[in-house]
Amino acid sequence: MDQRETPKKRKRNREMLLLLIVAGLVILLAIFMFYGAANSKSAKEAAYGIKRITYTVSAIVQDSLSGEKSSSLLILVNKTHAVGESYVPEQLIQLQSVATDRDEKYQSMVPEAAEAFENLCDGAADSGYEIVCTTAYRPYEYQKKLYDSYVSGKGQGYANMYSARPGESEHQTGLAVDVSSPSVDYRLESRFGDTEEGKWLAEHCAGYGFILRYPEGKEEITGYAYEPWHIRYVGILAAAEIMDKGITLEEYLGQQ
Ligand code: DAL
Ligand code: ZN
Repeated sequence: MDQRETPKKRKRNREMLLLLIVAGLVILLAIFMFYGAANSKSAKEAAYGIKRITYTVSAIVQDSLSGEKSSSLLILVNKTHAVGESYVPEQLIQLQSVATDRDEKYQSMVPEAAEAFENLCDGAADSGYEIVCTTAYRPYEYQKKLYDSYVSGKGQGYANMYSARPGESEHQTGLAVDVSSPSVDYRLESRFGDTEEGKWLAEHCAGYGFILRYPEGKEEITGYAYEPWHIRYVGILAAAEIMDKGITLEEYLGQQ
């Protein structure tokens, strides 16, 4: 039998090939359209994922370059380590994830902490939780006003448990932020620690470089009552060690 292709057969083969290519393209297009429509949320999550990975890598590089434990991110501010009255961070970035009924003047952080905080809020939102800043950077004068109002409203003893005296608050460094959520009506209350948002925060904050600065049971060391809402940026490596070991910044630094 003659195996050579006749012109007619060649034409039929070409038509078949063309048909297959067109059918393939149509199927691919349909798949893309289906996933595009159904998974616009997944695309957003993927983008957040990439953003977080980028952030994590840059934070790790930064931590190792600046030298763990000597980094300015690890500044210790407490009842025995004050910052001066005139201390103001070099640069402050306005936060986006905020409680809108609070004064935006006190809702900023130093750039690295601000970026990490927005990532944390995005991460919480991905899990279905709203976490926002009530106040973050607080200048000396505002801390003085807060402390004085605690003293006049609740007495000196109570004030010293919940509020730092002016110059002794790490809010003045732009590295600390008080957070809240709708489930506690955007208030700062210890029951926040028992809410889903509070539990998510405790479990995930270290992944974004934050620690719970005033944990329950560590009042003798920190000098303050349990504050599940107060988180402090220290960088990913330090945060992971502090939160994994369940220790305070004082214990991590070996200082009181
Ligand atoms: N509530 C913390 C201790 C502060 O005022 O900085
Ligand atoms: Zn605070």
